[in-house]
Amino acid sequence: MEKREQIYEGKAKKVFLTDDPGLVIVDYKDDATAFNGLKKGTITGKGVINNKMSNLLMQKLEAAGIPTHFVEELSDRETLVRKVDIVPLEVIIRNIAAGSFSKNYGVKEGTPFEQPTIEFSYKNDDLGDPLINEYHALALKLATKEEIDLIKKYAFAVNDFMKAYWLERGVILVDFKLEFGKTADGAIVLADEISPDTCRFWDAKTMEKLDKDRFRRDMGGVEDAYNEIMGRLS
Ligand code: TMP
Repeated sequence: MEKREQIYEGKAKKVFLTDDPGLVIVDYKDDATAFNGLKKGTITGKGVINNKMSNLLMQKLEAAGIPTHFVEELSDRETLVRKVDIVPLEVIIRNIAAGSFSKNYGVKEGTPFEQPTIEFSYKNDDLGDPLINEYHALALKLATKEEIDLIKKYAFAVNDFMKAYWLERGVILVDFKLEFGKTADGAIVLADEISPDTCRFWDAKTMEKLDKDRFRRDMGGVEDAYNEIMGRLS
């Protein structure tokens, strides 16, 4: 597969065209940002870990019946994926209160929910990814009602699969963010990445944080945490 011109560079990834109009190559960087780019840094080896973890999880999710953009891992940092238009919604599922939920609603971090919650942010850096509801998403024409229903169904199915999968590996899946894309033929597929950048992972025994919160909160041991969580997959 020929790598052609770069069409996008985000905070953590670059995207390149290929000679197939339906496929693009994602290239994962070690760059890390938080708080809408205000905090910047490098997490050495993160790109490799996020690429490999995301690919492994997406293959498992495909097998569990959730369509994804994944096609083929090309190298440590590069993956061939289906070209999609990203639906400008960040879909967040939470099993335990943490982060912005704890802050916004005054709930102690670590408080478990009786059932998972879902929320949407409008993916728009200029606006700071504001929290929106489904009616806002429809008013803003970010997706159709049918697409939102499908996205919710897939997101909860991802949670059901991942919660059990990580618990078998001694990890509590606290919360995570997903993005979905629309293929040229209109299908909704899971896109972007599933990684320690986009999930909160706590060690089930020690409750130690094994994700990007160590970077966001200046806790130290960031690289060690990424290596530890990746090691749980093998
Ligand atoms: P939050 O508690 O800060 O809203 O984060 C919820 C989840 O979403 C957490 O697992 C981290 C992830 N996340 C992203 O992937 N990207 C983001 O820009 C933010 C703010 C959170």
